[in-house]
Amino acid sequence: MNIVILAAGMGKRMKSSLPKVLHLLGGKPLLQHVIDTAATLSPTQLCVVYGHGGEKVKSAISANNITFIKQAELLGTGHAVMQTADALLDNMPTLILSGDVPLIQASTLNQLTAVAQDNRLAILTVSPPDATGYGRIVRNSKQHISHIVEHKDASPEELLINEINTGIMVAPTKHLKRWLSALSNNNAQQEYYLTDIVGMAAADAVPIVSAQPAHIWETLGINNKKQLAELERTHQRVLADNLLEAGVTLTDPSRIDIRGNLRSGEDVTIDVNCIFEGEVTLGDNVTIDANCIIKNTHIQSGSHIRPFSHLEEAIVGESSIIGPYARLRPGANLGEGVHIGNFVEIKNSRIASFSKANHLAYVGDAKVGSRVNIGAGAITCNYDGANKHETIIDDDAFIGTNCELVAPLHVGEGATIGAGTTLSKNAPAGSLTVSRSKQTSIQNWKRPSKT
Ligand code: UD1
Ligand code: CA
Repeated sequence: MNIVILAAGMGKRMKSSLPKVLHLLGGKPLLQHVIDTAATLSPTQLCVVYGHGGEKVKSAISANNITFIKQAELLGTGHAVMQTADALLDNMPTLILSGDVPLIQASTLNQLTAVAQDNRLAILTVSPPDATGYGRIVRNSKQHISHIVEHKDASPEELLINEINTGIMVAPTKHLKRWLSALSNNNAQQEYYLTDIVGMAAADAVPIVSAQPAHIWETLGINNKKQLAELERTHQRVLADNLLEAGVTLTDPSRIDIRGNLRSGEDVTIDVNCIFEGEVTLGDNVTIDANCIIKNTHIQSGSHIRPFSHLEEAIVGESSIIGPYARLRPGANLGEGVHIGNFVEIKNSRIASFSKANHLAYVGDAKVGSRVNIGAGAITCNYDGANKHETIIDDDAFIGTNCELVAPLHVGEGATIGAGTTLSKNAPAGSLTVSRSKQTSIQNWKRPSKT
C-alpha cells in the first residue's frame, strides 16, 4: 500500500521552536513512532508531508525509503494529502496517518486495511467521552456512513454525535486523487478538508466502512505539552503492564520510565524511579534498586544494581554487584562476580571476574585481570592532557588505597602497590612496590596557638 503521514501542522500550542512532531514520547520523536509503526506494514510508498521550517524534521527522522514532501502553505488536511498525489501508486490503497498521533498500533492499522479491501473507503472511528473539536461521523438511516462534518461546521444535532473521525483512513487511491482534486475550501475554516472525500465516496457509491482501535489511546493526538505529558504516562503504563505480564516484578508500575527497549529474563525485580534508555537487557534474577539510570547496557543474570547507579553502554557480567552510587561509562565491560561500589567510575575498561573496586576510584582505559583489588581512592591517570594511555593490571594484583597509576603502565600478576603510591613505572609481578617519602616524627613540636 501507499502510506501518507501528515506532519505539516505547526504545533503552535506546544510553545516551542521545535516542530511538534519532533517532541519526544518515550524518548523518541512523535513522528518516528508513526514511521516505525508504518514501516511494519511494509508500504511500497511512504510519504511524510512536512511544513515550512520543517527542514529539521527531515534531518531528525531516520528511516529508509521515505519520500518527504513539503506543504508550503497549510491549507488543510485535504490539501496536505494532495501534495503527495504524484507519489501515490494507483493500483494499491493509501493509508493516511497523522504524525502527531504516535501510539497507533500496527494491529489496528492491519484491521483497518483489512476492512478496506476491494476498494472500500475505511475510516478509523472512536466514541470518546468528549467529542469536542473532532469531526463527527454522520450515518444514514441504514447506519451507513454518509459523510463527516467538522466540529466547526456541525449543526447542533450533529454535535450530539459521539462517534468521531480519528483522522486515520484507508482510501482507494485512484478515487482518492479524483476526490482530492474536487475539494473546495468553502467551510468554516476555509480549509481543504480531507474529510470531505467521505461524502464524495458516498455520492460515487463507493462503500464506506469503519473499524475501531483496540484502545482509545492509540488515536490520541498531541497538541500541547499537557497532552504530551498525559500520553507519556499512558505509554509508560502500557510498557509497565507488558513487563508485569512478562513476569517482571515492578515495585510500582507507575514509577518506571522506558525510553527504548527493555528486555528481561525471569525473576527480574525493578524498584522505583528507574529510567531505561536505548537497548537494555537484563538477564534472569537481575535486581535493579531504586533511582538507577541505565542506557544501552547488558546486565547478565544474577547481578544486583544498587540504588542511584548510572550505567551507560556497559556490560555487567553474571552475579556482579554495582553501586550504590556507581558510574559505568561507555566501554565498561565487567566479568563475573565483579564488585563496583560507591563513587567508583569505570570508563572504557575491562574488569575481569571477581575483581573489586568498592570505594571512590577511577578506572579508565584499563585492562584489569581477575581477583584484583582496587583500593579506595585509587586512580588511573589515563590522560596526559593530549593523549589517553592504557593501564594493564594483571590477575591477583592489589592496588592500595589512594594510589595514582600514571599510564601507560603495567602492574604484574600478584603485585602489591602500597597505599599512597604514585606509580609511574611498571610494577613487577609478585612484589611490593611503594613510592612514599619516609615517615618521620618531630619531637618537641608544638601546635601554633591563637594569638
Ligand atoms: C482533523 C480532522 C477531524 C478529526 C481530527 C482528529 C480534517 C479536516 N479534520 O481535524 O475530522 O476528528 O483531525 O484529530 O481532516 N496537517 C497538515 N497540513 C495541513 C493541516 C493539517 O499536514 O494543512 C496535519 C497536521 O499536522 C496533523 C493532521 O494533519 O498531523 C491533522 O491536522 P489537525 O489540524 O490536527 O486536524 P483537525 O482540525 O484537528
Ligand atoms: Ca488535531
